[in-house]
Amino acid sequence: MKFEFKNCDGVLQGTLIAPVLEGMGVPPRLVREDKEETLARAMTAQNFTGKKGEFCTVLMPTGLCVTLAGVGKPEGAVETWLQTVGGTLATVLKSVRHKEVMICTSGLSDVKVKTATAAAYLTFGLGLGAYSFDVYKTKKKETPEVELVRILSSDPESDETAFESLFAVLNGVYEARDLSSEPANMLPPAEFVEAVKALKMKNVTLKVLDKKQMQKLGMNLLLTVAQGAAEAPYLLIMEYMKGKKEDAPVVLVGKGVCFDSGGMNLKPSASLTHMKYDMSGGAAVVGTLHAVSELGLKQNVVGLVPLVENMLSDRAAHTDDVIQSMNGKTVEIANTDAEGRLILADAMWYGQETYHPQTLIDIATLTGVMKYVFGSQYAGLFTNDKGLGSALKKASDETVMDQIWELPLHPDYEKMLSSDIADLSNIGKGGEAGSATAAMFLKNFVADGVKWAHLDIASVGWLSADKPCAPKGATGFGVQLLTQYFINRENA
Ligand code: BES
Ligand code: ZN
Ligand code: ZN
Repeated sequence: MKFEFKNCDGVLQGTLIAPVLEGMGVPPRLVREDKEETLARAMTAQNFTGKKGEFCTVLMPTGLCVTLAGVGKPEGAVETWLQTVGGTLATVLKSVRHKEVMICTSGLSDVKVKTATAAAYLTFGLGLGAYSFDVYKTKKKETPEVELVRILSSDPESDETAFESLFAVLNGVYEARDLSSEPANMLPPAEFVEAVKALKMKNVTLKVLDKKQMQKLGMNLLLTVAQGAAEAPYLLIMEYMKGKKEDAPVVLVGKGVCFDSGGMNLKPSASLTHMKYDMSGGAAVVGTLHAVSELGLKQNVVGLVPLVENMLSDRAAHTDDVIQSMNGKTVEIANTDAEGRLILADAMWYGQETYHPQTLIDIATLTGVMKYVFGSQYAGLFTNDKGLGSALKKASDETVMDQIWELPLHPDYEKMLSSDIADLSNIGKGGEAGSATAAMFLKNFVADGVKWAHLDIASVGWLSADKPCAPKGATGFGVQLLTQYFINRENA
């Protein structure tokens, strides 16, 4: 789908969607078009006042087909509200039977935003909501899909410029959603690496460590998770070094389990569904790196994605196995389904030894229990640094979808990870505080002085029902949040 910003002075033909604020009547640009008051009369006849969720489709005497979409009144931050409005319009797009459609923004001309423009935010939300993943559908849809969206505005140049940076983020979200939607047979670790290479990100140096190289480095936790699978593991490294040479980079680490069967602690059938998206943290890191590079931010950012499959075979790790991690600590694998933390631990340690970051952020579909805590509303944030926590919270508040909520890292959770035989167990005792003990496990692999945040996105990586700015399926959670974090950092 392409987006084009156009001056709204010309003749209007074809299909047009117009958001209408509650109680504001026909948008000014359409009043001009509405010589015979067709729209005004249709609104009255259908009792359309512009409330959220109201729609009214009208054929004008000129042949122009207008769908008025009620959007209510701005709520909360205007920027995110506009994105939700855009997402709502995306649902209207799905019922349009034309390849081109116009969006009339004149009904929103009184809605003022501080950065970017109202039309740009609306278009961003529209893009987020219009995503679909149908590469494997061989049967063409009977109705044509919208290919071009013309956004009519009074200042298309400003909108175009404002949308450019939002488009970089949108593109990153799409890439993350694409990667997470790919089934495991299509996207094992090696293909994930190829897919990222194919993105040809500007100013991003890609490096890939293979099994042999990881063996030399002692990344045994990662390799142990991978050993049951026929697919070889990789550590994908993305370096974007456009900041000052002397500035330590921010290191992002994203969980890249291309399929999580649970291993010997095999998941029950229902829990195996969608376990292809267990690499969504990794996908978010890829999308973020791409967005950051497109935005040309003057920062040093390194993205790491440990890529494995967690499978069951005669070579798979046993429960009770004791493995020495890259940082020397020994880990008892009390549960092979708690594999994410194992691969992250080695990748995080590698990231710190190699890049000496001040800030380390990991993002992972780590614990299923997050869904019980938050539904699909929030991801969990755990951090050892208040400042980093508030910076992430601020960035999160500026996004329409990527909401986070901080959970505590009480020191006593550490005791729950004790093992009779090794330095650490990979799960907490008694199944209590599953998300916090997982976070605490990771904290064992954070070097002294490093500011670290852990985002558990198991609750939000995949939706079973549509939301305005995220159709059901993979959400690309994290790309907006992390990119906004870097944008704010740039402006600080
Ligand atoms: N990938 C899962 C977590 C998950 C579950 C993500 C559902 C998305 C949806 C993770 O590797 C896992 O299996 N975690 C275990 C931890 C447990 C063994 C302590 C879990 O959540 O049950
Ligand atoms: Zn697991
Ligand atoms: Zn997992």
